[in-house]
Amino acid sequence: MEFADLEQLMATQRAVRRFTKDPVDDATIERVLAAATRAPSARNIQPWRFIVIRDASTKGSLGAIFDELGQQMYGPNAPDHDPWSEVPVLVAVCAEYVFGRDAGAEAALGASVYPAVQNLLLAAHALGLGTVLTTRWKRREAELRPLLGLPETMGVQAIVPMGWPDRKYGRNRRVPVAGLISRERFGEPWR
Ligand SMILES: Cc1cc2nc3c(=O)[nH]c(=O)nc-3n(C[C@H](O)[C@H](O)[C@H](O)COP(=O)(O)O)c2cc1C
Repeated sequence: MEFADLEQLMATQRAVRRFTKDPVDDATIERVLAAATRAPSARNIQPWRFIVIRDASTKGSLGAIFDELGQQMYGPNAPDHDPWSEVPVLVAVCAEYVFGRDAGAEAALGASVYPAVQNLLLAAHALGLGTVLTTRWKRREAELRPLLGLPETMGVQAIVPMGWPDRKYGRNRRVPVAGLISRERFGEPWR
């Protein structure tokens, strides 16, 4: 693969919140998740575990929490999206930690899980699938846990709705990198 191809893949990876009704088969999901597990993690602990959720009632219950928080946090400005009950698949990315015990440890663990989540997003995009990383529901994780059947030693780091995008999405818009780089000390211009 040329660098230009990888750059193009990254530049067209978008937050997709609306999907066609077409299903996503298990083999495709497993391919995406296999790519996710190629990520680095501290001491190679590979803490990620995945729950693939298709059940409409579970998706609906998770979506209700997500939407209530969206309403509280953003009012009418919450991003538009398909109701989660209608999204083909939700992937919950979990990792081992004791829920609520140590926020610092959880943050450090996040650093070992999000590279896998990014791999997941890019791999899905490479196969033509749309995804969106969500964390808003974190504020009510305690309520989510029984819906996912999580043991005490397992936490959720991301919930990723996944399906075939409703339309073609263009390149993402990002701040030009030259303005984000310092030379030697913070704030010293790069060029
Ligand atoms: C840590 C993180 C949390 C996010 N949480 C949510 C979320 O709860 N709900 C949502 O709709 N999008 C969420 N997003 C998606 C962002 O809104 C999206 O990546 C950003 O607006 C850029 O969109 P674009 O890639 O299409 O340009 C999250 C993204 C990240 C990285």
